[in-house]
Amino acid sequence: MAEVEVHREAALQRADDFENPGLPPHRKRQTDLHPEKEKRAERVVFGWFLLSALGSIIAVAAYVAVPITPGDLTTTRFNNLFLGLGIALAMLAIGIGAVHWSKQLMSDEEHVELRHSTKGSEKTRAKAVEVFTLGDKESGFTRRSLIRNSLIGALAFAPLPAVVLFRDLAPADQVPTDVFAHTMWEAGTRLCLDPTGTPIRASDVSYGSAFHVMPEGIDEAEHPLDEKALAAVLVMRLPADQLNEAPDRAGWSYDGIVAYSKICTHVGCPVALYEQQTHHLLCPCHQSTFDVKNHCKVIFGPANRPLPQLPIAVDSEGYLIAQRDFTEPIGPSYFERLHDVDEDEHILVAGTTEDRA
Ligand code: FES
Repeated sequence: MAEVEVHREAALQRADDFENPGLPPHRKRQTDLHPEKEKRAERVVFGWFLLSALGSIIAVAAYVAVPITPGDLTTTRFNNLFLGLGIALAMLAIGIGAVHWSKQLMSDEEHVELRHSTKGSEKTRAKAVEVFTLGDKESGFTRRSLIRNSLIGALAFAPLPAVVLFRDLAPADQVPTDVFAHTMWEAGTRLCLDPTGTPIRASDVSYGSAFHVMPEGIDEAEHPLDEKALAAVLVMRLPADQLNEAPDRAGWSYDGIVAYSKICTHVGCPVALYEQQTHHLLCPCHQSTFDVKNHCKVIFGPANRPLPQLPIAVDSEGYLIAQRDFTEPIGPSYFERLHDVDEDEHILVAGTTEDRA
């Protein structure tokens, strides 16, 4: 016991390992010393804010002057480009102006603020309890249970209009899940390069490359952008000995060439990165990683189901074609809970069965 006390004593007397160096001597800025430099800094900040306003005007003008023509990707690209440049300029200039303002013109005094306990004093706490108790008494929240419970009920129902409004964003004649269950792929549709639309021969697909692919004729669809958002596919070729094909998917690939939906099963970003040594696909949004060797199963990240596979073959001219549409809804897994595909490849939609074949 005595020995322990000796040690405790020694610990109390031990010197600090580091000495607090304190703050360096304060140096005044040029703008503090020379009024003409202060004026110049003011004009610079003004210039940045003016530039920001100009960026916002450019964005609005570009949005009006370069409208999107439905089905025309060029106008969409230019619209997005100028809109993005205008907004980027506006945000960047505001940020730079604010930083410049704070560094050159705002007060340069250095303060030391000691950290105190965040807990209030007993008096403050007692006062807070008193205020709450008084509020409860005056409002009758506890006493008037009928009003209280009906208020809770009203609050529970309050989000309902938002649910109905969001539900109405989907086409009126379809449940939302239908939108993701069918794409433009069907038996015999050629796989074409995106965005040129050039059909792909099996011999064009070399090891290590990844092709961004759309169905042939997608630009002539009624809503090509909507169709592209559903039908986007990635095509890769793997050495046959590295491809682990499940028995129920035998014949879905061609000579090591496989095709998978490009729409991430997490929340629907385009899966755009292919690691050719490991044959992994990576979604840049939240880093979900899919193993192409094993049916694009998820090996990392928040996605919780593999990317849907598109069964492919070649036609008599050697071009890659689809054997059929996807056998499951593409995109976020949320839709998988409402849709299911049974062994006979019927899709079960909200309790009804519809044939997809
Ligand atoms: S959308 Fe792909 S990981 Fe989140």
